[in-house]
Amino acid sequence: MITLNINVDHVATLRNARGGFEPDPVTAAVNAELAGATGIVAHLREDRRHMKDRDIRILREVIQTKLDLEMAANEEIIAIALDIVPELVTIVPENRKELTTEGGLNLLANIDKYRKLSDRMHEKDIEVSFFIEPDEAMIEAALECDADMVEFHTGIYANAKHEGDMTQELARMIGACSSAFENGLKIAAGHGLNYSNVQAISMIPEIDELSIGHSVMARAIHVGISQAVREMHTLIMNASMQAKLGR
Ligand code: PXP
Repeated sequence: MITLNINVDHVATLRNARGGFEPDPVTAAVNAELAGATGIVAHLREDRRHMKDRDIRILREVIQTKLDLEMAANEEIIAIALDIVPELVTIVPENRKELTTEGGLNLLANIDKYRKLSDRMHEKDIEVSFFIEPDEAMIEAALECDADMVEFHTGIYANAKHEGDMTQELARMIGACSSAFENGLKIAAGHGLNYSNVQAISMIPEIDELSIGHSVMARAIHVGISQAVREMHTLIMNASMQAKLGR
């Protein structure tokens, strides 16, 4: 069954706007879990613009589901990951000037570096996922990097302005999921997913996990985090079930 991992970075962004203690991303994570999230995602950036080291350490202690630590292949952050031992690390590209992660990693340029990173994580029983475009060459590269999982970037699908472009990207995603699955990889997807575009992605049977942040936190401002997570969870479950029943 497809699962929903909630990214709580935006709660930290709001907290940091005033440099104080509220809202606390840890409280948001607990509420998201209570509302049906099956994992919590937090991105510890090199510049600590949203999540702080303290947040990651407390999340590790408090959450009851699964912690997915999003991170760049940066030595300082790698050391923190090896120390706190999340269930999963998702390796993303990181550009200091970007508003959010802008696209998938180019693994091809650094197979050796990423394979060594996987090996270090595996020694601590941490699973490794690489955030990549839904592209055959990247799937092959992820396998060479000893990935357990890949997270396909859904941003191109989510941001498509025309239905034709969206359909084309969805077809690329379906093909990539099938290929990654045949190669034994677990599959996640995320970026830009919201209450109106998540259904088609949820119907792809090979996807194990979705990683969603912005749209859920934006809705949470109006309806509260529990309702926002529950609504998203229900949409995903219904679409996944419909696909399974062939309707
Ligand atoms: N997956 C990855 C790798 C990301 O970097 C992000 C953004 O933090 C997400 C998923 C979630 O994207 P969004 O906030 O658009 O739902």
